[in-house]
Amino acid sequence: MPLNMKAVIPAAGLGTRFLPATKAMPKEMLPVVDKPAIQYVVEEAVQAGIDDILIIIGRNKNALANHFDSVPELESTLNAKGDTARLRRVLEASDLADIHFVRQGEPKGLGHAVLRARTHVGEASFAVLLGDDLIDERDELLTRMIAEHERTGSAIVALMEVDPAHIHMYGAAAIEATDDPDLVRVTGLVEKPSADVAPSNLAIIGRYVLPASVFEILERTGPGKGGEIQLTDALQEMAADPDGPGVSGVVFRGRRYDTGDRLDYIKAIVQLASDRDDLGPDLRPWLKDFAAGL
Ligand code: G1P
Repeated sequence: MPLNMKAVIPAAGLGTRFLPATKAMPKEMLPVVDKPAIQYVVEEAVQAGIDDILIIIGRNKNALANHFDSVPELESTLNAKGDTARLRRVLEASDLADIHFVRQGEPKGLGHAVLRARTHVGEASFAVLLGDDLIDERDELLTRMIAEHERTGSAIVALMEVDPAHIHMYGAAAIEATDDPDLVRVTGLVEKPSADVAPSNLAIIGRYVLPASVFEILERTGPGKGGEIQLTDALQEMAADPDGPGVSGVVFRGRRYDTGDRLDYIKAIVQLASDRDDLGPDLRPWLKDFAAGL
């Protein structure tokens, strides 16, 4: 049953780590095996029951908009050839959900991108999914976060333990345990701290379920780390406010693929392809031979 919840997917980053591939194409369109990264994220939202999705776009919007639109010439060609399997995969992207786009304008940070969703989202709680983190469809995360938000009204962030040497690449959470090992109360958040001042090695991975009141906080959040308006800073304010809804964390222990940098992107493709029924049986033995020869 569709939820009364919208999802927001910020996709306005410059993708500088993947230049020149991202010179004329958003990084969210980079293929992960045979689907653009953003399609996995849209599918994840749909699987959690969300059918209204707002993508915050930067320059090079056309590839994203075209991907989720129908392509009549391609569809009729595949149809005429009787290639129903490929036709189905082409139609999947355009039939997934009700997808909207808004431009970010100036790239002033994740908090600023999320604030651009305010008019579309209105007063209801909403989910935010970042395209650099792919969550394996076999492992539940967003559904659990939405259930937790519905139970408590708190802002919910997804957290994952990372190597302390890598915490400077993430928002890090100070937490208190609850009776449930997968659920923590978040008492503070710091954006990309150095390892020596990080409150823990629990990193925010890119999934959030937020009450609309976050928009008021974002409105007055000034530039933070890197001179950007940070979503983490707005959530820190929420975590510190004893009269507000508070922030909780769902600790994810499943399979997450990072497509944000080149090495992790390559690993993500190999992992996902080797698990697939159509590619895995040929890829796995080849990988073994290849690795043996290294
Ligand atoms: C963003 C957030 C950060 C979070 C990360 C997860 O950073 O600001 O708190 O840990 O996503 O991927 P970015 O990677 O966009 O710099």
